[in-house]
Amino acid sequence: NRPSIVLGLETSCDETAAAVVAREPSGEGRILASIVRSQWEQHRPFGGVVPEIAARAHVECLDVLVREALNGANVGLDDLSAVAATTGPGLIGGLIVGAITGKAIAMARGIPFISVHHLEAHALTVGLTEGIAPPYLLLLVSGGHTQLLIVRGVGDYERLGTTIDDALGEAFDKTAKLLGLGLPGGPAVERMALKGDGSRFKLPRPMAGRPEPHFSFAGLKTAVRRAAEKLAPLSDQDVADISAAFEQAVVDSVSDRCARAMEIAAARLGSDVPLRFVVAGGVAANQRLRASLSELAQARGFSFHVPPANLCGDNAAMIAWAGAERLTRGMVDPLDAPVRPRWPL
Ligand code: KG4
Ligand code: ZN
Repeated sequence: NRPSIVLGLETSCDETAAAVVAREPSGEGRILASIVRSQWEQHRPFGGVVPEIAARAHVECLDVLVREALNGANVGLDDLSAVAATTGPGLIGGLIVGAITGKAIAMARGIPFISVHHLEAHALTVGLTEGIAPPYLLLLVSGGHTQLLIVRGVGDYERLGTTIDDALGEAFDKTAKLLGLGLPGGPAVERMALKGDGSRFKLPRPMAGRPEPHFSFAGLKTAVRRAAEKLAPLSDQDVADISAAFEQAVVDSVSDRCARAMEIAAARLGSDVPLRFVVAGGVAANQRLRASLSELAQARGFSFHVPPANLCGDNAAMIAWAGAERLTRGMVDPLDAPVRPRWPL
């Protein structure tokens, strides 16, 4: 009846992260240590993530972060029940660094290795932070993915909708670049939007009213570019106003798509389960989006759950937690488990 203690490693993109999480037999989770090191300083001169630089940066600091996480959690390698690492989707160089490190520790200690799907980790984070267990409707919004899913259980996902072009985080990042704001784009656009008046521009609400809960953000990006080109050179107030208009258009479009997904999910889940709506992924840190979706959920009879902002972005606590959830169910992986740069959930 002891808790399982899992070391998690995250190296799929531009953050190197290590964490230790405990999972009680009751299903309750606790973060013992969680360390995230961002590589933004190294990528900034290039205006985006450079895969080779990312892989090298992971190699340089992952072992140090593992030591810091173990020390911070006050546990030794001998206390670990398992090691979990993100093995996809993501940039292949980074995935290999995390997988090999995790497998080496697992082999040396004779403990299970667990391959974690990065999006599953985002999807299950509310289990760690709020004790929310499936089933629930999930909006997953990150730099590479935008999906609406019914999470039925660990490893059991039904996709209702996805983006037909850009991911939402990508749209924020591209808009930031266009407006001359720094990286990462999402937080920069959000900060500028606070000082702006969005009603100055009429931007489209992509896909609004469509029966299938899919997303599209490419047209919105083009509309933003046109507005910016007309005004060039942009004053600070122009940038703030465009940021606010973009954010409002995004919030309206996403809310419309989620409303449709709630109708579908309510019908599929039936009347004997509580209706729950979860938002996860880096973009879930956006305050206006959170506020609007929380209101929508309330109006539609769904409870609303979102991880705290520091666990919306990439971190290793979510990887360790997904690993712990899998470990409990006997879902462990062989040491020759592959990394998968492309891996649908
Ligand atoms: O989940 P995540 O950390 O990494 C991926 O798995 O992609 O998501 C990163 C994305 C980036 O595109 C970033 O600009 C966006 O999340 N993001 C935000 C905010 N914070 C991060 N977008 C809008 N508002 C934010 N506050
Ligand atoms: Zn992510």
